[in-house]
Amino acid sequence: MTQIKTPQEIEQMRPACHHAANTLVMIEEYIKPGVTTNEINEIVHDYTIQHGGIPAPLNYHGFPKSVCTSVNHVVCHGIPCDKKLKDGDIINVDVTTIINGWHGDTSKTFYVGEPKIRAEKVTEVARKALELGISVVKPGATLGDIGHVIQQYAEAEKCSVVREYCGHGIGRVFHEEPQILHYGKPNTGLILKKGMVFTIEPMVNIGRAAVKVLGDKWTVVTRDKSLSAQFEHTMVVTDDGVEILTLPNLL
Ligand code: MF3
Ligand code: CO
Ligand code: CO
Repeated sequence: MTQIKTPQEIEQMRPACHHAANTLVMIEEYIKPGVTTNEINEIVHDYTIQHGGIPAPLNYHGFPKSVCTSVNHVVCHGIPCDKKLKDGDIINVDVTTIINGWHGDTSKTFYVGEPKIRAEKVTEVARKALELGISVVKPGATLGDIGHVIQQYAEAEKCSVVREYCGHGIGRVFHEEPQILHYGKPNTGLILKKGMVFTIEPMVNIGRAAVKVLGDKWTVVTRDKSLSAQFEHTMVVTDDGVEILTLPNLL
């Protein structure tokens, strides 16, 4: 059952959503060659706690760190480690914060130094794919409408959309119904209603769509080792459209 959240519940979600968005703003200056993803993990962890949040990934189904860091051909759920970022890498930082029992979930792909042409291409396609997906959200639209615009655009740009992972309802629970597929057909699937809260988080590959999970049981990579990029927002369906909840409120 897809829940409808009341205006009061939306108000209760805002701090977690702002916090997660603020964390992405905060982390940007640390994304540079020579930094390890473990260092990014520590900075995100400490910032989260210091600002009254709990990092949702830590121990979530056994995930060992406080943030997901997915570099180059890693699609999602990358585990922070001792490896240093290098010039030309791309890295998705996926932050989920819990405040007062509510979750906010957002991610962004960053350039490490100067991007190479394919890295820039896949990153900009993923950024625009999320933007297009959000643009069709309103009461009466369907989940298929969201998936369709994302798939249509990414494939027209000669990229592919990952099928195995999707956006999700979110609230007191990290991942709840409905599943938000990033591919689909217009006018199909669940009809959106005011008060639904979910993420859209397309994973776009510059090569083929196929992925596999590594032996650590978490790290998802492209089978053909092609670059993959992702952006994510948490949003709520409003009376006449959508409001993105994971926007920063830093001064
Ligand atoms: N933040 C991811 C998402 O967008 C989920 C990460 S689960 C973790 O849904 F355990 F890997 F952190
Ligand atoms: Co998510
Ligand atoms: Co996320």
